[in-house]
Order: sequence, then C-alpha cells, then structure tokens
Amino acid sequence: MCGIVAYLGDKHAYPILVEGLHRLEYRGYDSAGIVLLDDEIHLVKKKGKVRDLEDAAGGTPKRSTIGIGHTRWATHGEPNDVNAHPHLSGNGRLALVHNGIIENYAILKKALERLGHTFVSETDTEVFVHLIEEYQTRDGISIEEAVLQALNRVIGAYAIVVVDKEDPDKLVAARKQSPLVVGVGDDEFLVASDASPIVKYTNKVVYLNDHELAIITRDGNLNIRDIANNHVEPRVEEIDLKIEELEKEGYDFFMHKEIHQQPQTIMDCMRGRLNVQEGWIKLGGLEEYKKQILQANRMIIAGCGTSWHAGLIAEYLFEDLARLPVEVEYASELRYRNPVIREGDVVLAISQSGETADTLAALKHVKEKGATIYGIVNVVGSSIARITHAGSYIHAGPEIGVASTKAFTGQVTLLSLMALMIGYERGTIPLTRYEELISELGQIPEKVREVLAYEEQVKYIASEIKDTANALYLGRGYNFPVALEGALKLKEISYIHAEGYPAAEMKHGPIALIDENMPVIVIATNQSAYDKILSNVQEVKARKAKVIAITTKGDEQLKKYADYIVEIPETMEPFTPLLSVIPLQLLSYYIAVMRGCNVDQPRNLAKSVTVE
Ligand code: F6R
Repeated sequence: MCGIVAYLGDKHAYPILVEGLHRLEYRGYDSAGIVLLDDEIHLVKKKGKVRDLEDAAGGTPKRSTIGIGHTRWATHGEPNDVNAHPHLSGNGRLALVHNGIIENYAILKKALERLGHTFVSETDTEVFVHLIEEYQTRDGISIEEAVLQALNRVIGAYAIVVVDKEDPDKLVAARKQSPLVVGVGDDEFLVASDASPIVKYTNKVVYLNDHELAIITRDGNLNIRDIANNHVEPRVEEIDLKIEELEKEGYDFFMHKEIHQQPQTIMDCMRGRLNVQEGWIKLGGLEEYKKQILQANRMIIAGCGTSWHAGLIAEYLFEDLARLPVEVEYASELRYRNPVIREGDVVLAISQSGETADTLAALKHVKEKGATIYGIVNVVGSSIARITHAGSYIHAGPEIGVASTKAFTGQVTLLSLMALMIGYERGTIPLTRYEELISELGQIPEKVREVLAYEEQVKYIASEIKDTANALYLGRGYNFPVALEGALKLKEISYIHAEGYPAAEMKHGPIALIDENMPVIVIATNQSAYDKILSNVQEVKARKAKVIAITTKGDEQLKKYADYIVEIPETMEPFTPLLSVIPLQLLSYYIAVMRGCNVDQPRNLAKSVTVE
C-alpha cells in the first residue's frame, strides 16, 4: 500500500531512491515520483511503474544528496501523473510523500480552501502538505513544529516524509499505523516503508512507533519525539537481511523463486524449534505466555486472505491435535464486532507482512477487551510483531511476489508446531502418535522438494486449461482451506474467476455451474473422507467437467475418473496442506505466465494492505 523511501547523506540521492522504489514496488505500482532537493525542489512523477518514472526523469537527473520517493497504490484519486506523490505545498516550499489515508481530509480541505489554498490533485495527501504549510507560514515555525501541529489535526493512518527547501539538510518523518523504518548509516540516513531499500547501506535501523516523529539532520542527528513533543530515545536494532534475498536470482518472477524456496523456508521455520531425535518442540517466542496458551479455553484466530486460510488449517490442527476449540475470523469483520472475550481466551493473529490494517485493528480491539494476543508473522519488527504479547516469526525471508506462497507454508508449519506442542503438553496426543507426527513433520521439506519435481506436469496441465473463464476447487477436511487457497491464487494472478468449496457442499449449488467447460481441481489425498470425495469426483465427471486431481502417490482409483493427475507423496493427514498446496501454486503461476499476466504485480493489488 504505497512505498516510501528517502535519503540524506553524502551520496547522489537519485540512484538510491530509484533502486529503493524498485524494491518497494511490490507495495504499489500505479504511479511513482521523486523529489530531489538543493536550493530548489526538483519534482518528477509519473503514472505507471518505476521504470516509467526513470524514463520521465531522463538520463541526467539533478545531482543532489537529499530526496524523497514514492510508489503509489491509489486510494484517493485515480492513478495519474497529478495524483502521484510527492505532493507540494501551495508555496512550492515543501514536498511530502505519504502512505495511508487521511480520513478527515474533506473537512480539512474545505477549511484550507477558505484560507485561500488551492489544490491541483484529488488526493488526501495534498491536503496534508497544505496543512503543514498553513501552520508553518501562519506561525513562522520550523518544518518539524509545523508537522507536529498537523499530526495533531489529521485523523487516519500515515507514514510520511517531508522536506523543506528553506531547510534543505533535514528530513522529517512520522508514522501512525503505516510502517516506517529509519536506516542509520555512516554519515547517511535512509527512511523507508521497510528495510529492503536500506540493507545495502546499513544494517542498523530504528523502527518508528505510532505517533512518533523523526527529525533527521545532515550533521548526523536523529531526534525522535512523540506527538506531544516529548523526547524519545531511539532504539537502534541490527537487522539480518541479505541483499540476495531481495533479488530474483535467475527466476523470471519472485513468485516462482518463492515457490521453489519452500523446502528451505519450511526447514528454516522449524530450525531450533523441532528436535525429532530428542522429541521436543520449543517455541521461544511463546515461552513467557505458554501457561496462558496451555490453559486456554478457546482460541480465536484472525487474519486476511491467505493468512486467513492458514488460520482455517489451524482450526483443524488445534482441534485435532490439541483438543482446543478454535474460531477463525476475518480480521476485517472482527474489528467491528463486539466479540465476547472471556478469561482464558487467546487471540492469535496471522500475517505475512505484520502490517495489514484490518488485522492490526482487530488485535488492538481484542487487546482492549483484555485478550492475550499472539502473532505469527513473517516480517521482523513489523507492527503486529510489536503490539502482540508474544509470538513467533515464520522466518520465510522477504516475500516479494504479491501472491503469498512461502509465507503460507511457513504459517502452516508454525501452526503445526504450535498445535503439536500444545497437544503434547496438554496430553491430548498419545506419545507414540506424537513421535510419529514430529518425525513426519521433519520429513516435510524433502517431500515438498519431491512435489516440486512434478513441475513440468503441472505446466502441461496449465497449458490445457489456461483459457478457461472459470474454475472450481474442491477439497475436504484439511484440504478444504487448500481449495480456497488454490482458488485465490488463480484469481489474483491470472484474473480467472475461481471458487474454492468444501467438496460435499458442491451439490448444494455450485454443481449447477458444471459442464464440459468447467475445470474442477479436486484435492483428493487418501485420507479420512477419501471415499466421499471419490463420489464427489464421479458426480463432477458425470457432468462432463475436466477433472484435475491432486492425489497421493500410488492411488489407482482416481486415475479412472480424473483427466489429469498430480501425485504428492504420502504423509500424515495434518501435514497434507503443506504438500497439496504446492501443485496449486505452480498451476496458477504457469496459467498466469501463459496468459501474459504480470505475476508479481497483479492489477489492483498490493502486497501489504495497510489501509481499510
Ligand atoms: C494472497 C495474499 C493476500 C494476503 C492478505 C493478508 O496471496 O497475499 O490475500 O494474504 O492481504 O496479508 P498479510 O498476511 O500480510 O496480513
């Protein structure tokens, strides 16, 4: 949801900003812009990708050692050159980039118009910079004082960076509900929406908290204040992020690389947490609050999109292995409900980015009601990781493709570890089954590798169904959320309408859609409801649908009915999703590539949804 990058130091700012924008492009890619500062403000902004911005900037952009940049995902006003950021104040003195939404912008705009301000764009952001200008000129105050006053007037979410041409050795940044990280290098500072534009220059960062303002000056000063103007001591942290992790490393798309990373990322998620030989699982991040989890009466899981699907799998895992009642909630609904939170309830949020606005708001909502809150998050230092009482990182590394793949399997791995740990300690899993389960979980990375070896077969199936307008995904039990996830992957990157359904529900409606033009992807591994799903496949086949079955290796029965088969290795039922989802990720990937779609940056989407 928009990416911000800013630089102040002794290097030429333009290439640093442009490279940073490329790294942040997954957050929004409908327009981009930069401002470079010397005695003047040099503004270039353009509808389209960062590449289009580079073309517009020409080969010889202004030499300057301070600047701000932005890549946009539109909220107010269509994507065009005028609505692109940075936005300038009316007097041309200030430039601002913004990620978030100013909810009271219409009222502020009217008030400012009455004071003589005129606006050129349709954005809330332009109102923000005019408001800062108003305070600065009315009261004759510094840029940071004016920003502080403006922050006290605006309602909504923001991460901003502002520069002032009359004060050209200073960056002023602030955040509320949208992430912002300050990189502290030798004689230079970077500010960005995440650490990816920063790591090339320094591994020392300060994560700004909500309602904090950073004033960064060329003499090497980083001064942080809260919204009431109290001094806040900056907490410098070291991050462990390698530049290769941010590159495609030979793949055409990040999504393809991330699908193939899964044997490794699942292993990384288990490293130091699962010891098969000694029979233990340890989740260090949960230790302090372990008692609450073990004694919980109920678990409420909140998330959005793919993370919500991981939550649905957790429902099966926690009920099955730990006998813990679970409710899985869309975070966007939970945040506006009046949920009954009782003593002994725990709330678990699942989020790759750790910044999803709905998930963050739902967590704050239940925290106020007294719940103990946990996070399962990928991005280290993200907002959700910081507001939860306890939690675990999935350690999947940066996920850059907009469609979530390795984060999903990381989340499911972590949830499996958690369910096993709780089940073992609550005594709901007999020891021998526990030992079998943890030994099997240890084998999963190798089995994922085996599934990936079927890539060519999946590619062939993709070529056979790529022109379809619709697709139906069916699964039962642990594979029902996988069906939802498969359908979501196809929709978001190939723009084919797809639905996921519990297989038995099909006869209550969707069966009416089935004819010879409908591909039906059935996840039919040899587990509890196998006979039932076999009947569902026959029902589908009787209506002439093209059946693509994900089956367990050696299954002869399904071969009679399915048009195409992809086999996955045998595993224990709770871990099936970790294998069965892989062919579905590959299927949507290849269909999208064959349809000429931009796999990593699908239309209308952004990686991190930091607005409502
Ligand atoms: C789908 C996808 C989205 C996210 C959702 C939640 O591939 O990526 O549905 O899963 O926006 O994002 P996080 O997990 O960052 O909270």
